[in-house]
Amino acid sequence: MEPSRRAFLRTFTGSGLLAFAWLKDDWAVHLARAQEAAPSSQPPSVAAGNENFWFHIQQAFDIDRSIINLNNGGVCPSPRVVHEAMKRQLDWANHAPSRHLWEDQDPQVELIRVRLARQFGCDPEELAITRNASESLQIVLNGLDLKAGDEVLTTTQDYPRMLNTLRQRERREGIVLKQLRLPVPIQSADQVIKLFEEGISEKTKAILVCHVVNITGQILPVAEICRMARERGIRTIVDGAHAFAQITYQCADIDCDMYGVSLHKWLTAPIGTGFLYVRKELIKSLWPLQAAPIEKDDNIRKFEEIGTHPTAPRLAIGEALTFYQGIGPARKEARLRWLRDYWAQRLSKYERVRFHTNLDPAHSCAIATFGIEGIAPNDLAQRLWRQHKIIVTPIVHEDFQGIRVTPNVYSTTQELDIFCDAIGDLIEKGLPEKEPAAQPAVTQPATSAPASAPAS
Ligand SMILES: Cc1ncc(COP(=O)(O)O)c(C=O)c1O
Repeated sequence: MEPSRRAFLRTFTGSGLLAFAWLKDDWAVHLARAQEAAPSSQPPSVAAGNENFWFHIQQAFDIDRSIINLNNGGVCPSPRVVHEAMKRQLDWANHAPSRHLWEDQDPQVELIRVRLARQFGCDPEELAITRNASESLQIVLNGLDLKAGDEVLTTTQDYPRMLNTLRQRERREGIVLKQLRLPVPIQSADQVIKLFEEGISEKTKAILVCHVVNITGQILPVAEICRMARERGIRTIVDGAHAFAQITYQCADIDCDMYGVSLHKWLTAPIGTGFLYVRKELIKSLWPLQAAPIEKDDNIRKFEEIGTHPTAPRLAIGEALTFYQGIGPARKEARLRWLRDYWAQRLSKYERVRFHTNLDPAHSCAIATFGIEGIAPNDLAQRLWRQHKIIVTPIVHEDFQGIRVTPNVYSTTQELDIFCDAIGDLIEKGLPEKEPAAQPAVTQPATSAPASAPAS
């Protein structure tokens, strides 16, 4: 808000309501209030349940409180400060796109590259800014030189679009996609490491593995899998769509060859933003999805050759990083886990509720999936939406079924209480015999046909 408007409001608003309206406009004030409520000396585990702190974070978002959005795993709303920055940049570009977009805004993306690289802990020359994790991972999965018979090892719980990319290469070039079945829920990191170890063959050339599995929220031991693969000369591709800004880690902790992220998920950056990390010495040998000139062969920017596109969402990543860093990565992770525990503990008391996620903090964070014996996930999700205006994600996988629940930092405990009450009510009273016509099912086939609407 410009200083003159602020001064005007200060002069003319005696009422608390107007003062609050002013506060709502100003993220910096909210941040200051939040810091007062939970100074940085307060341990994340304590700050996680400090509602005085989180109130101010909740107020940073313009969202519709007449619905309860518990699908933040798919895509997240941005805080007001991020969304406004994007709109400002979009407006500015539109004044004279050929100049403002290409000559002013595009060069500014370089600072965003530096800031993202600092957060992720890599060299900026190893980080390409993309539109999402799909683009990042498709660059890698299509860009690796593989020949007929070469195996790519992954799981039946990897993201359908990534599996389809590999299936297309199977059909086109005769590579082999080998999928492991992860236990549900996973009991230990060793269990997963052993599975990958046993799945590796002499023909394995690459491993694709999720850092956080989208349909269960399970955190996988990617560092150990990458170490094992490296010892055998196998390339490692980590799908970090759900990990970045949900859990805290640095690139060096994982030490993979390539890593793909969506920034419109947990970083709450504008929709249509992501990044791709490629280990420096591998950039040259990886083909871009859209052709780049030979002079760019070993330049990470060759993966950004996508033609004219809006720079505004990319520039507003800077605001999203500032917002995230303002909350504090450890504090955010602790809060996400706290919110997950808040609803999951209440639902655990029902005998018919079965969790498909290991709720141990070492194995999961914001995301958890559960099924209710005798109730199909699509019916449950539809009922929650129609009757309670609650959004959840139905998951139908060949090994398990359930609904995935993903609150975010703007979610309130009252919203989670309403959700838990609705589930309790359904368990006690059951679904009515006759429901209105069903909407199309959201399925997640792991090994068979491609899903047209994958759970994100
Ligand atoms: C594990 C995983 N990988 C990749 C993606 C693709 O993300 P996007 O649609 O943002 O490209 C998703 C989306 O939810 C995901 O959950």
